[in-house]
Amino acid sequence: MILGLLTALALVGPSHALIRFGCSQLVVDRLDPLVEPGIAPSAHLHQIIGGNSFVPDMRPETMDPAKLSTCTTCQPADDFSNYWTAPIYFKARNGTYKRVPQKPNSGFEGSNGGMTVYYMQAQLADVAQKPKVKAFPPGFRMIIGSPIADTRPQADKYPQLTYTCLQTMGTRFPETKNFPKKPCPAGIMVNLRFKTCWDGVNLDSPDHMSHLSYPESGTFENQGPCPASHPVRVPQVMFEVIYETKDFNDPAIWPEDGSQPFVYSFGDGTGYANHGDYLFGWKDDSLQKIMDEECFVNCTSMKTQSIEQMNACSTTRKVNEDIGDDEWITALPGQAHTEHAIREPKGLWASLL
Ligand SMILES: *[C@@H]1O[C@H](CO)[C@@H](O)[C@H](O)[C@H]1NC(C)=O
Ligand SMILES: *[C@@H]1O[C@H](CO)[C@@H](O)[C@H](O)[C@H]1NC(C)=O
Repeated sequence: MILGLLTALALVGPSHALIRFGCSQLVVDRLDPLVEPGIAPSAHLHQIIGGNSFVPDMRPETMDPAKLSTCTTCQPADDFSNYWTAPIYFKARNGTYKRVPQKPNSGFEGSNGGMTVYYMQAQLADVAQKPKVKAFPPGFRMIIGSPIADTRPQADKYPQLTYTCLQTMGTRFPETKNFPKKPCPAGIMVNLRFKTCWDGVNLDSPDHMSHLSYPESGTFENQGPCPASHPVRVPQVMFEVIYETKDFNDPAIWPEDGSQPFVYSFGDGTGYANHGDYLFGWKDDSLQKIMDEECFVNCTSMKTQSIEQMNACSTTRKVNEDIGDDEWITALPGQAHTEHAIREPKGLWASLL
């Protein structure tokens, strides 16, 4: 459905750039360079895409992925950014776990897992994409969402973090704030949209979020003005992460109490703790050039590489542990002795509730 929509919109004529592209998996590892720089293993497991310079410590002073990466798993050849989220596990009735694999969106078949990434200037259905945006500077990074949110009001602080229960690969509505309550035949799509108003000064902030803001009136979708505190409009960065649930959709293996069986790598089974991380790494001014072009998805200033080249880029895991890809594991990685350790409201995350 989304491809049909994009094709229909493309016929309407010139506009300013909206780009949408696939990225293969770079690595699945227990690293968190933004929240726990230099620490391996970090508190919970992540699935990561983008430039192959991804390492435990990526402070802006020392790490520019555009300079240090030798390849990227993303379709734009100049995008060495890293994008990551916590992966999802299936919890069996006997209490063991298996990691749920990811699969590419329609149109990116053959790509190894990964996610779909968007950079938008106006909402998807807005043909013109006219409002100008400023591309992120080198060293820029941000987070959206909180891994300790476990109530609906806490989740509502991040209104654009949602789930789509895929009946087919084209399903886009409705979106929910919680994990789907029933099996989803074509998988579960996790949608993450970052804030779009930047303070124009700081590459990061102590909570990795407060250098950004939503527009004054709600979210990006309203196209309202940015507040005076965060006056600079930046692209709407959006991830779609699709989990292939086909091996886990039989109601006979779902919990007997009627709840749903999927949990994040840190134990959340509500889905309210949806969160994602972004570390900018486009080469030189390549992202600004693309954003300034009049194009829609097919942008001539966006140099692309093949799916084979995307799949050929990878990096080795730094933390050696069984992450439950082949065998059932008795505890989530890093969570054995500290059940839901990261979910105790303390430090950084407590300030965000
Ligand atoms: C982009 O180009 C491809 C190949 O020419 C075409 O199939 C597709 O419909 C185009 N998409 C849009 C949104 O213009
Ligand atoms: C636990 O449940 C899974 C899924 O039903 C099954 O494959 C596995 O063999 C079980 N493990 C044990 C130790 O019973």
